Amino acid sequence: MNIAVIGTGYVGLVSGVCFSEIGNQVICVDNNGAKVEMLNEGNVPIYEPGLKELMVSNMQAGRLSFTSNIAEAISQSDIIFIAVGTPSLPSGEANLSYVEQVAIEIGSHIESYKIIVTKSTVPVGTNDRVRELISSISSQPFDVASVPEFLREGSAVKDTLNPDRIVIGTNSDRAIKTLKKLHRPLTENLIITDIRSAEMIKYASNAFLATKISFINEISNICEKVGADVTRVAEGMGYDKRIGASFLKAGIGYGGSCFPKDTQALIQIAGMVDYDFRLLKSVVQVNQDQRFQVIHKLEEALGSLKGKTIAVWGLAFKPDTDDVRDAPAIDIIQHLSDAGAVIKAYDPIATANFRKEVDVASISWEENPLQAAEGADALCVLTEWKEFAHIDLTELAEIMKDPIMIDGRNLYSAEQVQASNLQYYSVGRPG
Ligand code: NAD
Ligand code: UGA
Repeated sequence: MNIAVIGTGYVGLVSGVCFSEIGNQVICVDNNGAKVEMLNEGNVPIYEPGLKELMVSNMQAGRLSFTSNIAEAISQSDIIFIAVGTPSLPSGEANLSYVEQVAIEIGSHIESYKIIVTKSTVPVGTNDRVRELISSISSQPFDVASVPEFLREGSAVKDTLNPDRIVIGTNSDRAIKTLKKLHRPLTENLIITDIRSAEMIKYASNAFLATKISFINEISNICEKVGADVTRVAEGMGYDKRIGASFLKAGIGYGGSCFPKDTQALIQIAGMVDYDFRLLKSVVQVNQDQRFQVIHKLEEALGSLKGKTIAVWGLAFKPDTDDVRDAPAIDIIQHLSDAGAVIKAYDPIATANFRKEVDVASISWEENPLQAAEGADALCVLTEWKEFAHIDLTELAEIMKDPIMIDGRNLYSAEQVQASNLQYYSVGRPG
């Protein structure tokens, strides 16, 4: 099939590469000329395991190309995916201006029947709006469909080639037939539904996963007070198939470009129809508070943070990505700086992106984890990068001024810590 993907961010680029990998002819469009140039040279602007190799091999096979010329991409394609960003507005609502701009451009260039598919996460009713915008400009025939994306950063290629399910929301039999054929090689689990339900499935899924995380984080706070171990509690809960083992890892709260934005957007969507989504509001508040548990533990160990040197390991919102959008480390580092601490930060790959996000004077960017920890009064682990898991904790304790570790991700086992001289605080675990 001939496919255009508009927007080459995490979703558009990975989808474009994977559609070409399963044998389609794909042209990816972005209005950021520098990005398109980079992609055409075979370079990937984001860190995503396995993506570069797959992208280059499909470019060499002649199945994948990049352009900033949207008209050219539309004329060559039968299916057009919209995969541009839908960031939060200050109100928490999704900013739909990028999606609407693309719809207008499609309306201006469409010359024959197309299936227009929204992959961006958009509020209920947006696909109707896309249809309206295109029809207001063009009388060419087209159908719209909502096919939301469920990939996770850091495992985006794997998730896209082996999805748990594909949701196809449309009222057109012709679109259903084509989109089923396109996605069938990826999974048997094709959920065919109406557009509004498809739009809602995406928000409901992210909100539910965020709820699981806030739930286990609250349980972890109680575990700390009653002397239970949240990792064992989560394990014991997870064996129940009705609960499921995943997304029950207590920590410093969820971050990233999706859960924080999509939970806020769903609260707004509910509010528009006069529904007060109380549960989700609490999930968001619990998540915000959880970030500051790290600070409370530091204060418990050190007293005032003024003038103290705090090492930070991990800046990305999760491992295997250089994405720092809404990373908990942003709030935590800002707070440390406001409290008068001196920060020594290290991340394997996200430092460059992080430096654009925070503007604090009292921070140094270190070359490796031990350099960051050297001479520090305390160390906080904020991202569970694999390279931290193998560090010799005895050696670590020796090079710190005070061997205090706040492990915000429960990265280390009790056995690992016992052998060292660390004063160790984790999340929801005794000791
Ligand atoms: P992103 O910000 O990484 O990328 C968006 C891209 O669209 C950018 O490269 C930008 O230059 C381009 N763009 C914007 N306007 C354009 C236009 N008019 N024409 C051409 N290109 C244009 O975004 P993302 O993280 O890939 O997310 C995209 C959407 O997918 C969002 O709605 C997001 O919520 C959703 N989503 C994201 C993820 C994820 O893990 N990042 C997962 C599932 C769903
Ligand atoms: C999330 C969803 O998992 C994807 O299905 C969805 O497509 C995507 O949002 C989106 O809509 O954009 P992502 O944000 O890439 O994917 O990463 P996750 O693995 O879900 O992690 C999100 C955050 O939750 C991270 O900060 C992570 O550390 C945290 N988390 C995750 C926990 O604290 N505990 C857990 O048990 C799981």
